[in-house]
Amino acid sequence: MAHTLLNDTFLRALLRQPTDYTPIWLMRQAGRYLPEYNATRSRAGSFLGLAKNPDYATEVTLQPLERYPLDAAILFSDILTIPDAMGLGLDFAAGEGPKFARPVRTEADIAKLAVPDIEATLSYVTDAVREIRRALTDAEGRQRVPLIGFSGSPWTLACYMVEGGGSDDFRTVKSMLYARPELMHRILEVNAGAVAAYLNAQIEAGAQAVMIFDTWGGALADGVYQRFSLHYIEKVVGCLKREHDGARVPVITFTKGGGLWLEEIAATGVDAVGLDWTVNLGRARERVGARVALQGNIDPTVLFAPPATIREEARKVLDSFGDHPGHVFNLGHGISQFTPPEHVAELVDEVHRHSRTIRARA
Ligand code: CP3
Repeated sequence: MAHTLLNDTFLRALLRQPTDYTPIWLMRQAGRYLPEYNATRSRAGSFLGLAKNPDYATEVTLQPLERYPLDAAILFSDILTIPDAMGLGLDFAAGEGPKFARPVRTEADIAKLAVPDIEATLSYVTDAVREIRRALTDAEGRQRVPLIGFSGSPWTLACYMVEGGGSDDFRTVKSMLYARPELMHRILEVNAGAVAAYLNAQIEAGAQAVMIFDTWGGALADGVYQRFSLHYIEKVVGCLKREHDGARVPVITFTKGGGLWLEEIAATGVDAVGLDWTVNLGRARERVGARVALQGNIDPTVLFAPPATIREEARKVLDSFGDHPGHVFNLGHGISQFTPPEHVAELVDEVHRHSRTIRARA
């Protein structure tokens, strides 16, 4: 069957090709701010019940696309599937964050760590990728929007694996980093192998772009970030399959709090860099020129403001980037669970509308 992508704006922007308007998707676009997500999650019994069942994962992946004309779908899953597959025992206690039954603390724990067999442990993810691709495609083989696959960065995964859950100060994992750097490098080496294998499996199953979430890279000192986070992201990027089914598979990396290291992040071989809201997008574009596309970066809290303010702030971000190819609009971090869903429609509409106006002016 002939395969056509009805809307390739997102992929074109990542490759810095001209588009009629600026594409938009939202980090965590499927989630608790949507009542339909909460309904599916209660049918599934839990968050992990949802994520580990490809039918449910497909259903919730498509929910935000039914409400809003978003330009990409993102696989519904979590970054913590990898440490779970390594045997750490992931659990999400209701109302709390993630918890691991067996965190990585001792030399013996670290010696035991290994890259999991993706097919044996994470086939629920690759099955979901295939099922979502089918659900995005009509009987004539026309696909609505591209599908993004993702993983955590080696460092961000290590944070959860060593802390055993979330943390305010990352005391345990950073103490290990400073006291026993060779042990930390061994964890990161294994994680990099796992992340590369996991992303390549998603690409082979049909993910058309992939994103590396380095949520906690910004917790590291300058110099330490480069050796313990960025180095391993670069390693992963070097192992990724960059073409599949005759199409380029763009790679995005996002270090929250990484604005100061933008040039170095852009030099890792990625196609696009995600930015949080602390960065001025126009100045960021001047710093990287045409080397990479940029993704971001409106403050997710703007979505709590009245619609006129949401639209004004969206225009500021678009105007700051200016009329150049290579911008994917997004939030500077994940959408809050308390966001009014109708406000998201205002943002998506204004990004599409105003970016067309900017193109017309040129
Ligand atoms: O963007 C999407 O729509 C795809 C789904 C997605 C989820 N998690 C679903 C999820 C993605 C891309 C993630 C990535 C993720 N997970 C990150 C990196 C991105 C970021 O936000 O910084 C991190 C650090 C995690 C780890 C994680 N998962 C935490 C800390 C939590 C609990 C806290 C919270 O925000 O809920 C989760 C759970 C989680 N992952 C939920 C969703 C929708 C909420 C769980 C629920 O339904 O109860």
